[in-house]
Amino acid sequence: MSHTNAFPLPSQSVAENGDRDRSLVLSVNGLVTDFDTASGTVHAVRDVSFELRKRQRLAIVGESGSGKSAMAMSLVGLVPQPGRVVSGSVKLNGTELVGLDDAGISRIRGKDIGLVFQDPMAALDPLKTIGSQFVETIRVHQDVSVKVARRMACELLAEVGVNDPQRRIADYPHQYSGGMRQRVLIAMAIANDPTVVIADEPTTALDVTTQAQVLDLLAKICDERGNALIMITHNLGIVEELCDSVNVMYAGRFVESTSTRSLFGSPAHPYSKALLDCVIDPAATKRGALPAIPGSPPDLSVDEPGCPFVARCPLGRDELRCATERPEARALASGAVVRCHFASDTPGDAA
Ligand SMILES: Nc1ncnc2c1ncn2[C@@H]1O[C@H](COP(=O)(O)OP(=O)(O)OP(=O)(O)O)[C@@H](O)[C@H]1O
Ligand SMILES: [Mg+2]
Repeated sequence: MSHTNAFPLPSQSVAENGDRDRSLVLSVNGLVTDFDTASGTVHAVRDVSFELRKRQRLAIVGESGSGKSAMAMSLVGLVPQPGRVVSGSVKLNGTELVGLDDAGISRIRGKDIGLVFQDPMAALDPLKTIGSQFVETIRVHQDVSVKVARRMACELLAEVGVNDPQRRIADYPHQYSGGMRQRVLIAMAIANDPTVVIADEPTTALDVTTQAQVLDLLAKICDERGNALIMITHNLGIVEELCDSVNVMYAGRFVESTSTRSLFGSPAHPYSKALLDCVIDPAATKRGALPAIPGSPPDLSVDEPGCPFVARCPLGRDELRCATERPEARALASGAVVRCHFASDTPGDAA
């Protein structure tokens, strides 16, 4: 099987999945998203490109404020005010999504792209039963009766581990635990058989064990159904266990795009390496949070000419070049695509 994907899948997952369909489903090119605020324009997403294949499980990692949610929201036309997609292309099964009107993008959202939001309480209406919200989610996109939609909802709730769904469907969101609410959101996200599921920090409020169980369930369901999955998380342990490829985001750009195996085996970008080095800290792992790297990310309202990581970079081999010349994305022999003048294929050589 040949892959033209610039962000290749690791050989392991291709082998494990045998000859199952790995066709291209999502293609993002040069995506740029700004927030026009009173204190200036925040360039939150800067020239992001990637591809996603059927059954691929892609993680997006990066510290808080790096643009992960802005990027995810840009894919589905949900960038909050005062944000806007400035340029770029998002093609889902060949259909351009950037520039679609509200009706057009609404037909895609919740149907072809399933969303598991950051905060389950915000995503669910506290005044409506789980059942009525679920039935509505199905009937917006599928021409089925309330009775059929209810039956589908019960089956999906059972699939995600909600016991006695015929009874629980009449409950309100507050009557579910945090973990169970996440399971409900997963069931709703897959209800209309989406091509891609995007999960943005779906479990921040949950304890680490529940978090792992919920994400494990999401990954398993997507694999069984053939959905591609984009998982945005701070938990690198979960990334290593559940995802086959990773895009490391820093200051609005992907600084390393590679297979999970290559990232954890020999991270190429010094930022990736710093992230992984910190993970050895057991306190960070216990919290399930992305570890803190000394220094702060750059101000996203300023467009510096050099490498945005220069001030925090431990390499410091050529400060002038790093400070004045922005590294373009380049592919290493390992297949990793990195934005660093000095990143190397040779383990230990990069940093
Ligand atoms: N509504 C908004 N108005 C102005 N700026 C915003 C808005 N939403 C996000 N931003 C800015 O865009 C940048 C990216 O934010 P984003 O929420 O995408 O980060 P993130 O990587 O998802 O962080 P986290 O890990 O904390 O969820 C940040 O600098 C943030 O301040
Ligand atoms: Mg976010």
